[in-house]
Amino acid sequence: MALLLVITQWDPKPWLERLKRLAPGRDIRLWPDVGDPSDITVAAVWKHPPGVLAGLPNLKAILSLGAGVDHVFADPGLPDLPIGRVVDRDLTNRMSEWVVLHCLIHLRRQRLYDALQRDRDWRDIRPAPAARETRVGIMGMGVLGQDAAKKLAMIGFEVAGYSRTRHDLDGISTFGEAERDAFLARTDCLIALTPLTPRTRGMLNRDLFSRLAQNGVLGPPVLMNAGRGGLQNEADIVAALDDGTLGHATLDVFETEPLPASSPLWTHPKVTITPHNSAISDEDSVGRFVLGEVDRLEKGLTFTAPVERDRRY
Ligand SMILES: NC(=O)c1ccc[n+]([C@@H]2O[C@H](COP(=O)([O-])OP(=O)(O)OC[C@H]3O[C@@H](n4cnc5c(N)ncnc54)[C@H](OP(=O)(O)O)[C@@H]3O)[C@@H](O)[C@H]2O)c1
Repeated sequence: MALLLVITQWDPKPWLERLKRLAPGRDIRLWPDVGDPSDITVAAVWKHPPGVLAGLPNLKAILSLGAGVDHVFADPGLPDLPIGRVVDRDLTNRMSEWVVLHCLIHLRRQRLYDALQRDRDWRDIRPAPAARETRVGIMGMGVLGQDAAKKLAMIGFEVAGYSRTRHDLDGISTFGEAERDAFLARTDCLIALTPLTPRTRGMLNRDLFSRLAQNGVLGPPVLMNAGRGGLQNEADIVAALDDGTLGHATLDVFETEPLPASSPLWTHPKVTITPHNSAISDEDSVGRFVLGEVDRLEKGLTFTAPVERDRRY
């Protein structure tokens, strides 16, 4: 029983070395050095080339090396096998750090103070909104959304969560898919943490932005996206920033990555960019998780975080 790593767009060698160091006795191979394809029972993948998995006759399961699985479903020849994904405490903590950091930057007007500092301008901008007056809305109340929601609520933000199905969570107002517009109408700062699926692709568009609260303490609403670039329409974001429908966009993910140098987002005064690193993860921690998942499969158990093929997440 061999584990095959199929990785593109990341440097694959450190993954092989790490997993071999963590599990010296295990048969681990790195695509394209597959050896006998009939040995491979589990594939751990990141943006695998389409068709590669269909050529493995004894493959039993597919594990995404990230929390998202949109890259797995990009393969039109994907075998009909159980799919799992990474759920890792360290990754979740880091995503919440990014969310909390950027909410506080907006609440405390830090970008404005950075500009004033450059001009040696000692000015205290009032009114200074309180966290309790600031309505944060998280789209996607899964592993990442719930953790960020709890941490924001602890700081005192007025937090709501929106998901396909409604979840009951202490101290957080929650909305299901049918209540989307009510969720948007009470939201000053929208944080997208949904997976990229056929239903969520392009959902962060002009129509959605126009439904956000326009009467919040931050001024025009703030958009943050750390889910996937495919959720957003970047031309609509720029237009909404320019006409005041949005006050600011803080983006970790983009339609095309790396973000092309020609993108107007780079120099837009109302845009903050991070290079898809909101939840960089501790590699050993993820490596241990991957090996733990393979152990589970060998014991006849299912993945810790199984993906539902119909939902695409
Ligand atoms: N930027 C980064 O570095 C980074 C790192 C890690 C992950 N991510 C992204 O973050 C995403 C979320 O991760 P996770 O672990 O929190 O996923 P998760 O546990 O699967 O949660 C997904 C959430 O999105 C909701 N959702 C799905 N489709 C929806 C729809 N059409 N309308 C409304 N809500 C919908 C789900 O609703 P239900 O609760 O009703 O199922 C669930 O609450 C990943 O898919 C990945 O794309 C980004």
